[in-house]
Amino acid sequence: MLLQFIGSSVSTQVCRSHVSMEISRTFSGITNLLFNRRSSEESTYSTRKCLKPGKVSPRRSVPDHIQTPPYVRSKKPPGIASGPEVHDEKGIECMRASGRLAAQVLQYAGTLVKPGITTDEIDLAVHQMIIDNGAYPSPLGYGGFPKSVCTSVNECICHGIPDSRALEDGDIINIDVTVYLNGYHGDTSATYFVGDVDEGARNLVKVTKECLDKAISICAPGVELNKIGKTIHDHADKHRYGVVEQFVGHGVGQVFHSDPIVLHYRNNGRGKMVLNQTFTIEPMLTIGSIHPKMWNDNWTVVTEDGSLSAQFEHTILITTDGAEILTKC
Ligand code: MF3
Ligand code: CO
Ligand code: CO
Repeated sequence: MLLQFIGSSVSTQVCRSHVSMEISRTFSGITNLLFNRRSSEESTYSTRKCLKPGKVSPRRSVPDHIQTPPYVRSKKPPGIASGPEVHDEKGIECMRASGRLAAQVLQYAGTLVKPGITTDEIDLAVHQMIIDNGAYPSPLGYGGFPKSVCTSVNECICHGIPDSRALEDGDIINIDVTVYLNGYHGDTSATYFVGDVDEGARNLVKVTKECLDKAISICAPGVELNKIGKTIHDHADKHRYGVVEQFVGHGVGQVFHSDPIVLHYRNNGRGKMVLNQTFTIEPMLTIGSIHPKMWNDNWTVVTEDGSLSAQFEHTILITTDGAEILTKC
């Protein structure tokens, strides 16, 4: 979920641009040096092409009997609703059901990842499986988002729109699935390998997953939310990766995005976890710059220097003795 967006200037491209392969050291290159990040390691050897927009297929339809979230028909941008999601026993069961479905859909989508498949084909499969299970694909029509799932390839940090681009050997792709089942959202994502992926990218993905797992392991009633950011940031630092700050975890339940805002970086924010509360944790780590650049489609967010980014996300429930992962298969 977007926290705030600060525009940034042109900088060194780690992926191979079609215009120029020239590498000039810019501000972001210097910050990477200062913060001991790995950017230059990748830029020296990479032959990976920059991600480019493809063609987006027409909007898919949802059968009438499926319950639609309120934001789909409204014109105003949804944003982050105030008030946390804290559930009674019935609400918890609904969250378990939507979390389970989101996890199953994501797992299925992951099996489709291979060279040659387009992200639009992944969107079709995800859309079909969600409606076959009586649920609504939450991204479809959220703030005008045109598709049923987010597919974020290589330097795309998040919110990639499925399109005609075929996956290529060596790509990494985050698939972010959210379903709205019986009035409750379940939100989860994972990053997958397309064919043979080089060691550098594999390690980024591994460490990003570890960050999520470690953050979940410290969750319990009464724990400060800022411990999540510290846990993720400490682990990313240890491996010299950057943590994206503009996109955050969030309360999730009857509303897609609500309080609390869950920061993935070191912070002094106030607020503690509450019994029976549900929220997401969804760290995005990068090899180089942590600063995002948005495409003209107003959704696709890429690293400003074209360096790789990975993400994992779970919806969790705060229980008496810790956290239950609702989006685990
Ligand atoms: N699933 C994303 C999240 O984790 C939100 C996607 S909103 C969309 O918060 F409109 F881009 F789909
Ligand atoms: Co989310
Ligand atoms: Co998500």
